[in-house]
Amino acid sequence: MAKMEVKTSLLDNMIGVGDMVLLEPLNEETFINNLKKRFDHSEIYTYIGSVVISVNPYRSLPIYSPEKVEEYRNRNFYELSPHIFALSDEAYRSLRDQDKDQCILITGESGAGKTEASKLVMSYVAAVCGKGAEVNQVKEQLLQSNPVLEAFGNAKTVRNDNSSRFGKYMDIEFDFKGDPLGGVISNYLLEKSRVVKQPRGERNFHVFYQLLSGASEELLNKLKLERDFSRYNYLSLDSAKVNGVDDAANFRTVRNAMQIVGFMDHEAESVLAVVAAVLKLGNIEFKPESRVNGLDESKIKDKNELKEICELTGIDQSVLERAFSFRTVEAKQEKVSTTLNVAQAYYARDALAKNLYSRLFSWLVNRINESIKAQTKVRKKVMGVLDIYGFEIFEDNSFEQFIINYCNEKLQQIFIELTLKEEQEEYIREDIEWTHIDYFNNAIICDLIENNTNGILAMLDEECLRPGTVTDETFLEKLNQVCATHQHFESRMSKCSRFLNDTSLPHSCFRIQHYAGKVLYQVEGFVDKNNDLLYRDLSQAMWKASHTLIKSLFPEGNPAKINLKRPPTAGSQFKASVATLMKNLQTKNPNYIRCIKPNDKKAAHIFNEALVCHQIRYLGLLENVRVRRAGYAFRQAYEPCLERYKMLCKQTWPHWKGPARSGVEVLFNELEIPVEEYSFGRSKIFIRNPRTLFKLEDLRKQRLEDLATLIQKIYRGWKCRTYFLLMKKSQIVIAAWFRRYAQQKRYQQTKSSALVIQSYIRGWKARKILRELKHQKRCKEAVTTIAAYWHGTQVRREYRKFFRANAGKKIYEFTLQRIVQKYFLEMKNKMPSLSPIDKNWPSRPYLFLDSTHKELKRIFHLWRCKKYRDQFTDQQKLIYEEKLEASELFKDKKALYPSSVGQPFQGAYLEINKNPKYKKLKDAIEEKIIIAEVVNKINRANGKSTSRIFLLTNNNLLLADQKSGQIKSEVPLVDVTKVSMSSQNDGFFAVHLKEGSEAASKGDFLFSSDHLIEMATKLYRTTLSQTKQKLNIEISDEFLVQFRQDKVCVKFIQGNQKNGSVPTCKRKNNRLLEVAVP
Ligand SMILES: Nc1ncnc2c1ncn2[C@@H]1O[C@H](COP(=O)(O)OP(=O)(O)O)[C@@H](O)[C@H]1O
Ligand SMILES: [Mg+2]
Repeated sequence: MAKMEVKTSLLDNMIGVGDMVLLEPLNEETFINNLKKRFDHSEIYTYIGSVVISVNPYRSLPIYSPEKVEEYRNRNFYELSPHIFALSDEAYRSLRDQDKDQCILITGESGAGKTEASKLVMSYVAAVCGKGAEVNQVKEQLLQSNPVLEAFGNAKTVRNDNSSRFGKYMDIEFDFKGDPLGGVISNYLLEKSRVVKQPRGERNFHVFYQLLSGASEELLNKLKLERDFSRYNYLSLDSAKVNGVDDAANFRTVRNAMQIVGFMDHEAESVLAVVAAVLKLGNIEFKPESRVNGLDESKIKDKNELKEICELTGIDQSVLERAFSFRTVEAKQEKVSTTLNVAQAYYARDALAKNLYSRLFSWLVNRINESIKAQTKVRKKVMGVLDIYGFEIFEDNSFEQFIINYCNEKLQQIFIELTLKEEQEEYIREDIEWTHIDYFNNAIICDLIENNTNGILAMLDEECLRPGTVTDETFLEKLNQVCATHQHFESRMSKCSRFLNDTSLPHSCFRIQHYAGKVLYQVEGFVDKNNDLLYRDLSQAMWKASHTLIKSLFPEGNPAKINLKRPPTAGSQFKASVATLMKNLQTKNPNYIRCIKPNDKKAAHIFNEALVCHQIRYLGLLENVRVRRAGYAFRQAYEPCLERYKMLCKQTWPHWKGPARSGVEVLFNELEIPVEEYSFGRSKIFIRNPRTLFKLEDLRKQRLEDLATLIQKIYRGWKCRTYFLLMKKSQIVIAAWFRRYAQQKRYQQTKSSALVIQSYIRGWKARKILRELKHQKRCKEAVTTIAAYWHGTQVRREYRKFFRANAGKKIYEFTLQRIVQKYFLEMKNKMPSLSPIDKNWPSRPYLFLDSTHKELKRIFHLWRCKKYRDQFTDQQKLIYEEKLEASELFKDKKALYPSSVGQPFQGAYLEINKNPKYKKLKDAIEEKIIIAEVVNKINRANGKSTSRIFLLTNNNLLLADQKSGQIKSEVPLVDVTKVSMSSQNDGFFAVHLKEGSEAASKGDFLFSSDHLIEMATKLYRTTLSQTKQKLNIEISDEFLVQFRQDKVCVKFIQGNQKNGSVPTCKRKNNRLLEVAVP
């Protein structure tokens, strides 16, 4: 889940008010109460706008953990409850992202937590800025410079066990990315008087105690020190031990820190040698010795200590001894040496100790600066952290307090200037009308102190430089004269009688009304402290030291560089450095941390209202709030404002579409907030009165409760819906899976079925193909086989003759041939005659030749017939044709036929041409005569026969008388219709004539002839060739013949032998003519 951006605000869970600007009503009481309330709830930080008030809890709180660092990292200033980290983050981000140099001004009384605050700021910045080996080393060096400086510059005071006795300003330098590059530390006015004298209950600087407790015996011996604090005059006895402070452990920490910061071992040792020398200086004591001139002269009581110091520092003992006894004043080539009395000697000793120590401290700061200075020359962004002593009001206030308070006065001024400036700038930026605010401007007090002509510091310098006797009293007198009329200067001695009766104002004091309150300054010591005099003899003695560090600390002791001019006074030095600091700060964006001390007891949980009230007053915090609220108490960018209050109006809730500014406008209109109560800036809403804000907050709180219910409702709904959706989703998932499963199963089934079907089809196809292939193969094989057989046959056929297997057949065939040969040869010899009628034929020798034998017989017979026929002449052929015709006509029909076969058909039996008797006849006939024969013509009347010559020519049938040869009848062949005869062995025949023809008038002819067959045949043939008509030949034993008009039946009777072997004819009646045939 994405990290949810929790929009919080300073206004959430506020204890009291987190920002004093919201305090209502605003007065000291409410202010303190608010602080107290928060303090009691461990809320030690409170804002005044962007200023952080920090109340020292005097106990460790769990609010600086790395988790807290992360919490405040990159958050808006007003987003979380007030915290020093918020300020640090704001400053760091502004530096990094907007390229604005920053300064963090930490002010407050001693023990209020300034140094802690500065360390917290540094550690926060170190935690959030860049990382990496190099960067970490820089960070480490910057952070470790603190323990070193604290050891040398901090001391236990009544107010603070670890009080900084110097002012510190540290510039941390960053590159453009915000990675630290290095730093520069400036120190201000170390409280060096502490070296020689500490107030009651306070200690010297930590380092002395740390050295004595923590150094090894060896180191102590080397430094000629003893572990016992009481051995040293400079160490006050009554508070040598501090509760909860382990000096020995701290010594190791400091040594370690020195190492980290970059001190070489010999450097660290030199430093400690100087510390030891200072300590030992305190043990030098003087005793008075009366001189001849009556003056007291000081003498060193015990020179042993002096000797050891000289051994430690490498100074000639006599030189140092002399420096403690004489004072040489040089003026215009004149050197005047005066002896020192005991008091002067002690003064000289302490001055030396103080100078030695303070110069060592400055050297340390420079040395640290050298180590931590940025290595690059690129442009740097700077964050300055100022941890300077706060305003001090003691019972006895001296020069130091004066100086310190002056510094605070200056800081207050810059605070006022910058705050106002910032406020004004914001108003201009936001385009809000600027209303002037009355506030106390402390410039007048600054002027009282620092004015070059009649300022207190100027007059002090004047007094110090003035020839003649100069005392603190003369200084005070002068002050009384010059400043008497100044509003903020009070003195009993002043001519102005205002304070004449003010018993609280001693005569040796003057009082200044600082912005933070009145402070009474004891004038005693002002001149001396301002002079800060170190006798030249001493500095020269120091310069002569072989100890290089000490030598370098006293450059003015070099006789070659004798400077007769007085060194600048402490006051003017400080004034100058403060001026530089102020200039520096003015270029930077200020961030304020105002530290407040809740009690004087360094105790937790105690909130001393009076003490706090005092601090609030002098820190001018109420004024700060007033300035801040001058125009508008509260301001907020439109976006967070709308975000925070949008639920108060329907139009803006839950989402406002449009610019945030118009959203806020709508919101404020809707809530009916009086117009004068707010103002719209460019990016921020300005609310005049905190009441308005609280009203908004109250409304918001109420509304939030409603919204909580709403959210609950919605949440419950959401939860149920989410659950429902989840269930639905699950159901869908399950259904999907199930469907998928079912589908898969179905698919699998289908698939397997398809596969089965497929396999069947494929099998079937395959088998089909296989069958085909097999068939093809078989065909091929068959073809091959056939071819093989065929080839075999071919080959066998070719080679058969060579094979024995054929022998049988051969033999068989041979035998058969031989038998057939023999058969044919035998047949040749046994051939019958060539006569076609010869029926002889040799018998068949073998049964298997039966058909051949018969065929041969037939062929032979046909052959011999042909042979026979071939002998015939045409005449004979004709005869045989006729014979054949006759055969066809009569064979087996007429009994007479067989007897006619042997008779040659002669035709012209009567030789008409030769016989003269028939000469006449012959002449009458022109045509060729086919038949000339004598026939018996049967008389129709009685059946008697008469001989007649029967002539047949090509066209006619002629009958002639045998004797005369006279033609009796002539019938054209055309008129002959039919020839009738019996089937018997007789020669009778009838020639029927066409009815109606001329020849038929006498009726049909009935003849008898010996050559009936020949005649009938020839008649038939001639008729056929002449008329192309087949002559009808009727063979019947009974037929009708036309005799004139009568039809007579001719009937043939068989077997009547009475008339011999000749047939006889007899007319029986009109209708019947009977022929008897034997
Ligand atoms: N934020 C803090 N949390 C816990 N203790 C603190 C805090 N600030 C200060 N202190 C305590 O107060 C003491 C004095 O603080 P310090 O910063 O040295 O004061 P100052 O520098 O103003 O004189 C510290 O030593 C420490 O014990
Ligand atoms: Mg401090």
